[in-house]
Amino acid sequence: MKLTKEEQLELRRLLGALPNTLEAARMRLFRQHGKSTTFKHVMGVVCMSFYLNRRLRLGADEKALVQGAFLHDFYLYDWHDDDAPKKRHGFRHPARALENAQRLYTLTPVEANIIESHMWPLTLRKLPRSREAAIVCLTDKICALLEFCRVQPGGKLALAV
Ligand SMILES: [Fe+2]
Ligand SMILES: [Fe+2]
Repeated sequence: MKLTKEEQLELRRLLGALPNTLEAARMRLFRQHGKSTTFKHVMGVVCMSFYLNRRLRLGADEKALVQGAFLHDFYLYDWHDDDAPKKRHGFRHPARALENAQRLYTLTPVEANIIESHMWPLTLRKLPRSREAAIVCLTDKICALLEFCRVQPGGKLALAV
């Protein structure tokens, strides 16, 4: 997965100030899959979603895709901790992430659906209703698998932001 210099610049422009906000920085504190943090994971999903959309010419709205991908796991706790609300984490964390994101940012309906549906089909009734949501739903699973194998999706770009 390799993005051109122009694509990297465009990706940063689309993300805007989002990765640099204090709230988003909290995702750096929480472990995700393997040795990855939630922040590294969401950046991997951002990079891969953007890459697949460009290379496969899927025609997604890139801003909604990138911002929704960045916030899809914005639940803000470590699900490995004993005191974390990890009971049924897989089912519940999309709603928690959406609640946190809506409290801090103004989301479009597409961005909100990206967040709430990214665990589908686990969350049976929260269907991806746009191509942007379908891309993140699929990419999230690929990235999780790669992280379990100790591979950082998006490589240096995902870590550099
Ligand atoms: Fe998730
Ligand atoms: Fe995720």
